[in-house]
Amino acid sequence: MSKYIRAKITENTPVNKDHNLLVLSPGNIQQHPLPGQFYMIGTDFSYDPLLKRPFSIFREASSAEGGELQFLYRIKGKGTERMKEMKKGDTVNLLGPLGNGYPMHGRNLTPVLVAGGIGIASLFPLAEKLSGNVHLFYGARTKNELLMPNELKGLLKKELIISTDDGSEGTKGTVIDALNIFLTSKSQFSTSNFLLYACGPSPMLEAVSKFAAEKEIKGYISMEENMACGVGACLGCTVKTKKGYKRVCKEGPVFSAEEIVW
Ligand SMILES: Cc1cc2nc3c(=O)[nH]c(=O)nc-3n(C[C@H](O)[C@H](O)[C@H](O)COP(=O)(O)OP(=O)(O)OC[C@H]3O[C@@H](n4cnc5c(N)ncnc54)[C@H](O)[C@@H]3O)c2cc1C
Ligand code: FES
Repeated sequence: MSKYIRAKITENTPVNKDHNLLVLSPGNIQQHPLPGQFYMIGTDFSYDPLLKRPFSIFREASSAEGGELQFLYRIKGKGTERMKEMKKGDTVNLLGPLGNGYPMHGRNLTPVLVAGGIGIASLFPLAEKLSGNVHLFYGARTKNELLMPNELKGLLKKELIISTDDGSEGTKGTVIDALNIFLTSKSQFSTSNFLLYACGPSPMLEAVSKFAAEKEIKGYISMEENMACGVGACLGCTVKTKKGYKRVCKEGPVFSAEEIVW
């Protein structure tokens, strides 16, 4: 069950120009978040911005002294600008864990993770849970925007395939281009051996879903829709699916790749 928590900031440090790592100490964590689940985070100083913002759990640790929740966030607008200003010792309001998280499958399928930009925050704990036995495709606009490259290299037991739009690191082009090259090189395997998990900007998720349909690969995508309540009450996050409209915060954020109507 999700719950409201007041949590102290133990770290809020820049990872690069536009991204921070936020580490929170919420005391004893009663329920451990699953990879792909998220928390609504509200800054504590004022009612501006009024609405909490959704952030994927990046890492969770528990110890005798209590738990620690980590979030990677991109500084984008009003809410995250305010988050950036917060210091060690300040408190934030948390609601979570929320949403469904990534479904797990048997060992006979090889997980292929596809992250675009800050989508890595959601897929990193999945790679951890799968003990690094995943192929990870990670795309960013430029080398400087790649997050946690050393942690990823240390974690993964299979390939880390980086692509950047400007070619400053890895292959030049999109993650879909890189994925296509990879699958072509593995043509001795049936595509039905792979299972895709993707998180990133909406155009990337649309491209991944269409690619998966074309290659007949099963997969899941985590949607990053704007949210207001985060608990299924306001219908502000609905997306059109083949089975009618669904709420990203409640029925998602992870959906089957063939389910969304683009
Ligand atoms: C499930 C999920 C997980 C996510 N995980 C991450 C993550 O791990 N890291 C990360 O960096 N980002 C993540 N995001 C995206 C993140 O939530 C947004 O980048 C963040 O909300 C931006 O907030 P902002 O205030 O800085 O930007 P803004 O662009 O100012 O606001 C974001 C949106 O909130 C809405 N909003 C703002 N003010 C109001 C208002 N007054 N009334 C109504 N609506 C308003 C608007 O729709 C606006 O587009 C995730 C999103 C989802 C849905
Ligand atoms: S954000 Fe209110 S229903 Fe999803």
